[in-house]
Amino acid sequence: MKRVLIIGASKAIELKTAGQGLKVGHHVRASAHSAAGMALSDPNLEKVRGDALESQDVEAALSGVDVAIQTLGIGLEDLCRHVHLFSGAAGVLVAAARAQGVKRLTYVTGFGVGDSQASISCLQRLPFQIVFSRAYDDKSSQEQLIKESDLNWTIVRPEILTIGPRTGRYKNFPEPSQWRNGTISWSDGAEFLVRQMEDQTYVRQTPVLAN
Ligand SMILES: NC(=O)c1ccc[n+]([C@@H]2O[C@H](COP(=O)([O-])OP(=O)(O)OC[C@H]3O[C@@H](n4cnc5c(N)ncnc54)[C@H](OP(=O)(O)O)[C@@H]3O)[C@@H](O)[C@H]2O)c1
Repeated sequence: MKRVLIIGASKAIELKTAGQGLKVGHHVRASAHSAAGMALSDPNLEKVRGDALESQDVEAALSGVDVAIQTLGIGLEDLCRHVHLFSGAAGVLVAAARAQGVKRLTYVTGFGVGDSQASISCLQRLPFQIVFSRAYDDKSSQEQLIKESDLNWTIVRPEILTIGPRTGRYKNFPEPSQWRNGTISWSDGAEFLVRQMEDQTYVRQTPVLAN
């Protein structure tokens, strides 16, 4: 049983990760602005209101934790603005994890971030750049900060996330030669994130997830 902190835990893939983590017996501390409103309750679930950009919130949330997962997202309305959330929160988490002695961190970024940008299909590249460039540029800075840290990080890059069921038939592609466009359900992505709570196979790697 691990004591797990999920930063940005109130919706979508994050919520599924919290639910599946609890099911396999972990203690989950879920942090977000809206943590109190999470559609999940369990004796082993702690809901903590916190801001991923505030060092004191993140340090407090990391207290007594074995592993942390950061799965922050922004709203559609924020895609047209300057984005700083991902890199800012990564810097805060790396520093706070060092201060609290937490070594194992998993981050969700996305296919198309960092060196996976070159693997986006030609047809999708232009619309992708128009819509997501600000967010993904900041996610690339986020990845760089994480990679420069001495922590046991894994950067998970899901393809397009969907509301489908958990199938267990998804694949993870650690090698650039395997990267391609695709989709994966929140529930399958969550299963991979839950595995990272104990599994060290993908430490210092950037697996791409797809069905
Ligand atoms: N959707 C896709 O197809 C797709 C594909 C690939 C990768 N991804 C990536 O996967 C991740 C999760 O995506 P999603 O769509 O599931 O995200 P989401 O639904 O937008 O959820 C974002 C989470 O982040 C929290 N959050 C935002 N700002 C925060 C802050 N300052 N402090 C603490 N918590 C904060 C939100 O809670 P509060 O607002 O209550 O704080 C929420 O729990 C994102 O990084 C996204 O880019 C998504």
